[in-house]
Amino acid sequence: MKRVFSGIQPTGHVTLGNYLGAMRRWAEVDQHRADSLFCIVDLHALTVDHDPARVQRLSRQTATLLLAAGLDPGLCTLYVQSHVGEHTRLSYLLECVAGDGEMRRMIQYKEKSARERERGGSVRLSLLTYPVLMAADILAFGTEEVPVGDDQVQHVELARDLAVRFNQRYGHTFVVPKASLPGVAARVMNLQNPTSKMGKTDAGQGVVYLLDEPDVVRKKVLRAVTDSGRDVVYDREGRPGLTNLLEILAACTGGNPESLASVYDSYGSLKKDTAEAVVEVLRPVQARHRELCADPVYVEGVLRDGAEKARELARPRVDTAYRAIGLLPPA
Ligand code: TYM
Repeated sequence: MKRVFSGIQPTGHVTLGNYLGAMRRWAEVDQHRADSLFCIVDLHALTVDHDPARVQRLSRQTATLLLAAGLDPGLCTLYVQSHVGEHTRLSYLLECVAGDGEMRRMIQYKEKSARERERGGSVRLSLLTYPVLMAADILAFGTEEVPVGDDQVQHVELARDLAVRFNQRYGHTFVVPKASLPGVAARVMNLQNPTSKMGKTDAGQGVVYLLDEPDVVRKKVLRAVTDSGRDVVYDREGRPGLTNLLEILAACTGGNPESLASVYDSYGSLKKDTAEAVVEVLRPVQARHRELCADPVYVEGVLRDGAEKARELARPRVDTAYRAIGLLPPA
């Protein structure tokens, strides 16, 4: 069976973008067709200014939401990155095949480091090496496919490059992975600023969170910024606000965003239907989340078993990489 791996950072509340771009596919498709691992990548959350108690809380909440979204521990492995030492063990080896120039070219590094500097903070070295840790996450498991949203493609390509380079220098050790993107909603945009991605750490009314109450969802969608012009057309460049709503509606209803455009003759009705479609998609996830919150012991058990399984799966390949690169095996 194909090996699939993907991850989510506990840096903020999970958004509709995370759900439509990644999580929903993990639950509805990937766990059924592949030997899949899903990881709450808490070490990655330490690469920018963070509040320790909040990271812990969000790690637990993200795990609960992933189960609420339908991840089934009988079908996939769900765990927390810091519980499995193989990630950082491998990351160091990959730092020894990565170049600092290629790290500095990563779009997310450029954006996030600029943001940190603007806020007067210093940029953590781990922000620069973040994509190497992400490559380790992926390569430790012999991953073939990485289901992600559009913003992670460059990082997955780096993981490919590092796998190929390591294999060429030190002998075949890693499977070369590739990213897989959803057909629609690969990049859900901020409702208030539809030329930027809807991000977990954005503030304001432009981000729909998975746990937003129905009325909050409605308000955010109805107040979404739309473009000038009256007709409803699908045009990413010219009409980003409208196109974003069409993408969200299509992702929630299983339709096609371009053909949906011809169904609507006003922005108002498109917004109304999109708001209701989002509310309906979130309803069962929120209900299941409430149930799971009443059973934290179950969630803890899932994470414990998941970490144990992930450790066993990763260790042999990471050990092989240690030998291949020239490190003496312990006696
Ligand atoms: P993160 O935590 O930012 O996002 C988790 C997943 O959600 C997708 N996503 C989106 N998709 C569509 N529209 C959006 N607005 C949107 N926002 C987020 C992301 O593409 C991602 O698939 N570096 C990764 C976490 C990571 C990882 C990994 C992923 C660490 N190691 C190994 C895959 C494999 C990240 O920050 O995702």
